[in-house]
Amino acid sequence: MSEKLQKVLARAGYGSRREIEGWIKAGRVTLNGVPANLGDRAEVQDKILIDGQPVPQHRLGTGKCRVLVYHKPEGEICTRDDPEQRKTIFERLPVLRAGRWIAIGRLDINTSGLILLTTDGELAHRLMHPSRAVEREYAVRVLGEVDAAMLARLKQGVMLEDGDAHFDSIADAGGDGANHWYHVVLKEGRKHEVRRLWESQGITVSRLIRIRYGDIQLGRTLRRGQSKELESEELNGLRVLAGLEPETVPASAEKVRTPRRPSPPKRRIRGG
Ligand code: URA
Repeated sequence: MSEKLQKVLARAGYGSRREIEGWIKAGRVTLNGVPANLGDRAEVQDKILIDGQPVPQHRLGTGKCRVLVYHKPEGEICTRDDPEQRKTIFERLPVLRAGRWIAIGRLDINTSGLILLTTDGELAHRLMHPSRAVEREYAVRVLGEVDAAMLARLKQGVMLEDGDAHFDSIADAGGDGANHWYHVVLKEGRKHEVRRLWESQGITVSRLIRIRYGDIQLGRTLRRGQSKELESEELNGLRVLAGLEPETVPASAEKVRTPRRPSPPKRRIRGG
């Protein structure tokens, strides 16, 4: 089944449909050896080049949108290839026959918790885009004396080196001394943003756990290092949030294999 070229490439994670339309207009994309035109349709077996670089067929996938919830442990990084050979979040995910898992945003190496991954690059792109203002909720353990004025400033907005930032809500989640927790919500995902916001008030974050992205909660049953696939209701909830049409192909349409790895040792966490 053919689809608009810009839709196929957006799903493969190259950019937004609009960006790719711009590349097609500028003559940067070829389809089966000839410059592509707006309105061209493509299939997985077509030969597509962007700026002369081939688009590998495995990146085009099956066209089916799938979403995984992964419980990231501390110590794993969210980039695919690491020159330092550190562990990545991709190592324990179910193996796809076609396509690849694309992370919806990143967490720092020393942050744990929920990370969503999808086979649909366009969904990832949209859910990460600040214009969608998707809520991200974190459980944060802080070190330092927090007062009401600080909380007010953090909600109102403080100037960070890359611009104004704020929490949309802050809830005291209890605990004493060096074990005091807050739940904070923000609607964008700038680098180290939660830590930098607290640091702007002289407070150190000693644990950071993402517990929600949009309507998807981490939940208590998903252990660290484990993933689970979203069923169509939750998946389509995310697609609607991203302004995309619902997925109709059932999840069982593509079988997956999970790599065998020893589970990480059990450890209790708060707030996850
Ligand atoms: N904010 C941070 O500071 N770190 C993360 O990993 C995520 C959000």
